[in-house]
Order: sequence, then structure tokens, then C-alpha cells
Amino acid sequence: MKTIAFFNNKSGVGKTSLVYHLSWMFADHGIKTLAADIDPQANLTAMFLNEDRLENLWPDSEHPDTVYGAIQPIMRGIGDIAKPHVEMITQKLGLLAGDLGLSRFEDKLSDAWPRCHNRDESAFRTMTAFHRLVQSGEDWGAEIVLIDIGPNLGAINRSALLASDQICLPLAPDLFSLQGMKNLGPTLQDWRVIWAELLLKAPANIPMPKGTMHPVGYIVMQHSVLDSRPVMAYRRWMNRIPHVYRDSVLNEPTHSLPSVEQDPYCLSLLKHYRSLMAMAMEVRKPIFFLKSADGAIGAHIEAVKNCYDDFQKLAARISANVGIAFS
Ligand SMILES: Nc1ncnc2c1ncn2[C@@H]1O[C@H](COP(=O)(O)OP(=O)(O)O)[C@@H](O)[C@H]1O
Ligand SMILES: [Mg+2]
Repeated sequence: MKTIAFFNNKSGVGKTSLVYHLSWMFADHGIKTLAADIDPQANLTAMFLNEDRLENLWPDSEHPDTVYGAIQPIMRGIGDIAKPHVEMITQKLGLLAGDLGLSRFEDKLSDAWPRCHNRDESAFRTMTAFHRLVQSGEDWGAEIVLIDIGPNLGAINRSALLASDQICLPLAPDLFSLQGMKNLGPTLQDWRVIWAELLLKAPANIPMPKGTMHPVGYIVMQHSVLDSRPVMAYRRWMNRIPHVYRDSVLNEPTHSLPSVEQDPYCLSLLKHYRSLMAMAMEVRKPIFFLKSADGAIGAHIEAVKNCYDDFQKLAARISANVGIAFS
């Protein structure tokens, strides 16, 4: 089973939409896929489930069927995570449902990190709760777990990223995304180094994530034609992406730089699907499964087909890079 997080500490770059669409695409290719919503904003969960189901998942009392419900025993200090509920979307697609309450875990995780240095077993148990949560996908038969996380470098994300073998980096061609990469690259590197030190102090009876967080590549969200910025501005930021990715994220030399279009680390130049995205969200389907009854008529029909091809290519690229058979 492969675990891949989609991460950028900048919001609005399409992380959640990517996890949603890729989950459906992997499942459509017969790969048993688990989408894990570890963003306390729970946008991914709201994309998959209708409001009636969300209300059932998030009653005023306990939330046993969400990720927050699963980590409750850790929150209370009364034991290990509970067996997480997998919300079945289709036979091949499951969801670990998110929860706004998850933000309450932030302080506990912040507190656990330094205590791991003292070989504190409960601190290690807390730090690796998401690892066991995600690894429970193995019992469900998942071949791949796609993890959606929020846009920050906080303790929840550190712990969620440590639980991910691989990281895909969605970004937009703008100053904010480049700044985001410059922040997250060195931070990931620090976390890797510190985690490797902590592993030497970890208790043998708790399974530990390796904390590799291997960068798979980046995905550029292209601008909307409705956006008012001139094309030159995009080119300027676009041209900088291969350098910043190598320099900040990979720590690689940057002598000869390809264009984004030629960059082997660029997994996709993702189109802006404009009104099709809103249409898809309305009927809770990925864009590439929209039908004429959903409103995808006229020129939209071709766009829906192209969208399937785009995501299929992206899923194939990711599969090849992480070592999953995709056909
Ligand atoms: N390829 C796309 N085409 C059109 N709209 C998109 C696309 N990707 C994302 N969006 C829209 O952009 C907004 C931000 O996307 P989202 O996936 O929530 O980003 P993030 O998770 O990085 O904050 C949402 O309104 C979403 O519907
Ligand atoms: Mg999001």
C-alpha cells in the first residue's frame, strides 16, 4: 500500500480537488483507493458526502465515524486509536471522513513532539496516531491512500506528512506558491532529519512511519481565462518553478534547468475547468463523470472527455513514480 499526501502550505491551489478527482480516477482503474481527509477544514469530506450524511457524521455528541472519532482515545489519554470507519463511496473507493474537531489535536501534537526526545512512549503514540489511522487502509484492502491536508506547517500536518511515504506538491504560478515551496522544502528536510533521530529513541512495540516524505513531483494549476492578470505575469512565475522546486524541495543542483513543460518533475499542467468544477461539485461527481443530465451539454461534452484523459495521464504518472501498476 502506498501513501501519498497532497501538500502545499498555500491554500486554493487545488489540493482537495486533486485528491477528490484522483481518488475517483484510481478507483475507476480498479485500484482500491482510500481518500483520507486530515484537513480540519474537512472540504474533501464535504465534496464526497451530502449534507444529510455529514449531519449524521457530525452530531452534537461523539463522532465515532470520523478521523477525530478514531483518535479520541489518544486525545483523552485512555488508549490507542479506535478502528477507523471507512465510508464506502464505491466498492473501490473509501473515505476516512474528516472532522472540524480535528483542530483540537494540534496542541496535543505540538506537545508530543519535544517529549519524543525523552523517549516518552505516550508521546510517540500520539505522534504516530495518523500513521496507524492511514495504515488501517491495509486491512480494508487499499492499494493506495491519498491524503488531503490543510495549508500550513503546523503540528497536525507534520504528523500527517510523517505518515506519508510520498508527497505531491500542487501549486499555482504565482508568488505565493513559490514562497510556499521555499518554506516547505527546508521544513520537510528538518522534519526528516529530526524524525530520523527520534526513531532511534522510539519504543519497539509501536510501529513507526519511516518519515521519508519523498517528493513525487509538482502539479501546476493553470490560470483561469477569466483571471485578469496578464499572461506575462504567469510566464514569469512559471519559469521560476523548476529552479525553486529543485533548490528548496529537492536540494538538488540547478545548473541546467528545463522549462516547466519539459520538467520531468512536473506531473501535470492542470487545466482550469471553470464552470465544470462548480457543476461537478453540485452533483457530487468528478468532472470527468458529468453527464448531459447534469448540465454537461454542447462544448462541455468534449471538455468532460478531455478532463478524463488529463486525470488519467496524471494518475498514470503518479503510479509510475510511486510504483503502482496502472492500466
Ligand atoms: N482544475 C480546476 N479547475 C477549476 N477550478 C478548480 C480547479 N481546481 C480547484 N478549483 C477550484 O479552486 C478552489 C480551490 O480549490 P481546492 O481544491 O479547494 O484547493 P486547496 O485544497 O488547495 O485549498 C475551489 O473552489 C475549487 O473548486
Ligand atoms: Mg483543501
